[in-house]
Amino acid sequence: MAILTVLGVETSCDETAAAVVRVADGRAEVLSSIVASQVAAHAPYGGVVPEIAARSHVEAVDGTIRAALSAAHLTPRDLDGVAATAGPGLVGGVMVGLSAGKAMALALGKPLIAVNHLEGHAVSARLADDVPYPFLLLLVSGGHCQLLVVEGVGACRRLGTTIDDAAGEAFDKIAASLGLPYPGGPALEKLAQGGDARRYTLPRMLLGRKDCDFSFSGLKTAAARLAEGVTSETERRDLAAAVQAAIAEQLAERSGRAMDRYAPGRNGADLRFVVAGGVAANGAVKARLKAETDRRGFAFFAPPLAYCTDNAAMIALAGAERLALGLTDPLDAPARPRWPLDQEAALASPIHKPSRKGAKA
Ligand code: KG4
Ligand code: ZN
Repeated sequence: MAILTVLGVETSCDETAAAVVRVADGRAEVLSSIVASQVAAHAPYGGVVPEIAARSHVEAVDGTIRAALSAAHLTPRDLDGVAATAGPGLVGGVMVGLSAGKAMALALGKPLIAVNHLEGHAVSARLADDVPYPFLLLLVSGGHCQLLVVEGVGACRRLGTTIDDAAGEAFDKIAASLGLPYPGGPALEKLAQGGDARRYTLPRMLLGRKDCDFSFSGLKTAAARLAEGVTSETERRDLAAAVQAAIAEQLAERSGRAMDRYAPGRNGADLRFVVAGGVAANGAVKARLKAETDRRGFAFFAPPLAYCTDNAAMIALAGAERLALGLTDPLDAPARPRWPLDQEAALASPIHKPSRKGAKA
C-alpha cells in the first residue's frame, strides 16, 4: 500500500500548529507536531480575541511550519500533500493557515486538502491507536458537543448535539465564575482534585430524555449562583468537583443512550466508542465514559492528551486519509466559519438557526 507523508496546518482558534504525519498500510506515524499556543496573549481578556488570534497566526505560521518540517527531518519536497484547516472556526485565523497551505501546495505542485477541523478531532484517536471505521464518536471541544456515527472518511451521521453551550464552553464559563483563569477546563479539573462532589446538588439537565442532545445552560446558571456563596477554599474545591461530575454524568448518560441506538444494527461487531476534543483531556470525564462503555461491551478510545486539544497532527491525518482516496481540493477552496460534519442533519433540524455564514453544527 502507498505511503503518504502529509503536512498539516491548524489555525482555527488560538493555537498555531503544524505537523507532519506519515501513513503506511493504514497506520499513522506522527513525525512531528508543533503547537504554538496563544494562551498568554488572550489570558488578560478572559477568552479568545479574534483579531489578536488572526494577527498572532500571521506572525507564527511560517516559523511553525518550518519547525514541523525540521523536527520531522524533511524538506517540503518530501511531502505528498498539504492539509490545512478550512473551518469551522474564527475565519480570520482560518484564512491565515489555509492561505499558507495553499501557497505551499502551489509552489510545490502538490495537492491541497482543505480539512474540516471537526473531522480532524474525529480521526485524532487514530493517530495513536488502531481504531477502524465505523465507530461512535463523542466530540467535546470548546465549540462543539456532539454524538456522531463515523462510518468512514468524511461520512458522519449526527445522533445528537447541544441545544445551548458546548461542554468545553460550560467548563470555561463555570471556571470563570469560580475565579479561575482562561482556559477554564484544565484549571477546573486541577481545582476539583480531592473535592467532595456530593456537597452541592446541581441540576441534572435533560437526564432521562429520549434523544441524544445536550444542554449545559441550567448547570451554568446554578453553578454561578452557588459560586457567589462560596466562602472557603474547601467549598470552592467541592463545587468544582460537583460541576465536573455533573458534566461527566450528562456526557455519559447521553453517550450510553447513543450506544444503545448504535449497537443493535451492528450485530455485536464494530462496538467502538471514541471521545475526542479538548474535554477528552479530562480524567473524570474519561473515567465516567469508560464505565459506560464497559457496561455495554464497547471498546473505549481517547486520543493521547496532546491530540485532545487543538493540534495539527489530526489535521495532517485527516488530510492523508482524504488524499489516499483522491479527495483533494482546488486552490480557491474557501475558508468556512461554519461547517457541520453532518450538513444534512444541521440543515434539517437546526438547533441554531442557519445564518448568512451557513448552518451551525
Ligand atoms: O478541542 P479544543 O482544544 O478546541 C476547540 O476546538 O474548541 O478544546 C478546547 C476546550 C476548552 O473549552 C477547554 O477548557 C477544554 O477544551 N478543556 C478541558 C480540559 N482541557 C481542555 N476541559 C476540561 N478538562 C480538561 N482537562
Ligand atoms: Zn478543536
